[in-house]
Amino acid sequence: MLKLETLISEQDIQRRIEELGAQISKDYDGKEIIMLCVLKGGVMFMTDLAKRVTVPMKMEFMAVSSYGDEYKSSGIVKILKDLDEPIDGKHVLIVEDIIDSGRTLSYLKNILEGRNPSSVKICTLLDKPDQRVVDVEVDYVGFTIPDSFVIGYGLDYHQFYRNLPYIAVNKGE
Ligand code: PRP
Ligand code: MN
Ligand code: MG
Repeated sequence: MLKLETLISEQDIQRRIEELGAQISKDYDGKEIIMLCVLKGGVMFMTDLAKRVTVPMKMEFMAVSSYGDEYKSSGIVKILKDLDEPIDGKHVLIVEDIIDSGRTLSYLKNILEGRNPSSVKICTLLDKPDQRVVDVEVDYVGFTIPDSFVIGYGLDYHQFYRNLPYIAVNKGE
């Protein structure tokens, strides 16, 4: 059984998102951006962050899946749902809930950069640097967290708990 303890409160998440939104709006001043949510984990962060961004923005969604063991060795990620529009000449901001090994985002970033966008940047709510296997440049980080099993606010445990408005850590076995 899971024994949940709050790691990051709803209020702290929302406060940090306000800051990130302000920073992103400043950095992209005079430009328009495509905010690209990586399903499913990125969805809560995407919707709250988007409300804090003041530059013109479009929402896009991508779904990816890993190839089990093969994924571990090769880092290959399968695209299940791609972008609806081309991104050449566009500024893309990838929105993720968490970076662990870095495999998902390094693969995704490579794919997107091959499509000739003006820029591709990464915004993640959580970063777990202790788990990193592949180097990936992260532009915006909400919170850096230690290596523990976290759920809530988009992050799942067997697909459940994504709807928690806060980030919890499991203190059970
Ligand atoms: C999780 C998380 C990130 C990825 C991070 O997604 O949402 O997308 O893993 O791991 P990595 O840095 O080691 O690649 P998951 O594959 O569980 O899918 P989900 O978002 O649908 O839960
Ligand atoms: Mn995910
Ligand atoms: Mg998951």
